[in-house]
Amino acid sequence: MRWMHAAGRGLLVLAVVLTGHAASGAHADDGTSGDRGPLTLATAGDLTGYLGPLLQGWNRTHPGEKVTLVELPDSADETHAQMATDLRGGDRSRFDVLNIDVSWTSEFAAAGWIRPLPRDRFPLKAFLRPVVDTATYDGRLYAVPYVTNAGLLLYRKDVLAAEGVPPPRTWAELERDAKTIAQRHGLDGYAGQFLPYEGLTVNAAEAVYSAGGSILGDEGARVTVNSAAAREGIGFLARGVREGWIPRQALTYKEEESKQAFRDGRLLFLRNWPYAYAVASAPGSPVAGKIGAVPLPGPDGPGRSVLGGSDLAVSTHARHPDSAARLIAYLTSEPVQRQVLVRGALPPVRAALYDDPALVRKFPYLPTLRESVLRAAPRPKSPRYDQVSLVVQAVVRDAMTGHETPEDAVRRLARELAAVSDR
Ligand code: GLC
Repeated sequence: MRWMHAAGRGLLVLAVVLTGHAASGAHADDGTSGDRGPLTLATAGDLTGYLGPLLQGWNRTHPGEKVTLVELPDSADETHAQMATDLRGGDRSRFDVLNIDVSWTSEFAAAGWIRPLPRDRFPLKAFLRPVVDTATYDGRLYAVPYVTNAGLLLYRKDVLAAEGVPPPRTWAELERDAKTIAQRHGLDGYAGQFLPYEGLTVNAAEAVYSAGGSILGDEGARVTVNSAAAREGIGFLARGVREGWIPRQALTYKEEESKQAFRDGRLLFLRNWPYAYAVASAPGSPVAGKIGAVPLPGPDGPGRSVLGGSDLAVSTHARHPDSAARLIAYLTSEPVQRQVLVRGALPPVRAALYDDPALVRKFPYLPTLRESVLRAAPRPKSPRYDQVSLVVQAVVRDAMTGHETPEDAVRRLARELAAVSDR
């Protein structure tokens, strides 16, 4: 695995963007015809630095259809903003293929930014069941699933073993251990991604879903959040900060900062995506060999993750749509999906890889991950999902910082979400 420092990645992005412009002007000379030719692939920050080398495999064998990687920021919201700005530019848009968050398909499709794709060109039947739904809108396929994701609870196996305690299955167990055991070992208790951005929406939705609640129903048309379950879910997160078993610093964490706190040995429990397990167990990590992963806990037993991941879509203004579809077929082929896991530490969408004994040996969390993906709840499908998420982030932030009680927060959430769907 190739880990790159953020600053190094910044330089790479610049270099890649510059050469991208050169490459796009070059296609007249490279012997391509029809709608085949060079492409750009825009993606959110590549946290494990695997995608550039992986695309070199395609570039070597497809000299007339070279792909240039444009790496956008790590944060889902910033990537969303940059993609939306680019796509609004119509035929001035620079991005041909877009690696979009699973939660954006409806919005991008409804806005006319991405084009419908023929189902028979892609191996949809080989994918894990829930992932295909994230790529459809209004009954049509608008993207192809590329990676999936589910939140896991990472824990310090060494610390719990020293105390003779199994990993928590319920919130009560998590809270107890995060208060008592963490303190005895000089650790912070529990963190997730609590900065206001998509990650906070995910963490809040997981807390609400785990308590048996929901946020929106009927594909975003109905607000269902005003419930005892939602109050319990938001209450769990707010209590953590108030009682100190969620450190205040966690209110500034996205995926990377929270992973770093766990990798540095500062945290007993962390909610994160599986890449964090792989990074924290890699050679050189202070906690390598000392960590485990279980499904997220809920009030009375295992809770529910939100379904994460990303899908590959083709811009309406893509210069070479046939090459774009061919690249997507390549990236979702079995050998490449294997590399996505082995080199990128990202959960593949192909179901068969989860049964591969060699992969399960290397990534012991695979069986837990498959269960979590199959049980995961999708985010609401709404053409206004971006606004839905902004409302959730703002309100949950106020509850977690103690500016609003969970009861008031849930009432306000219901009001503001209703206003979004009326708009
Ligand atoms: C991960 C997930 C994505 C989610 C994001 C939130 O990238 O795969 O679906 O929206 O995290 O930060």
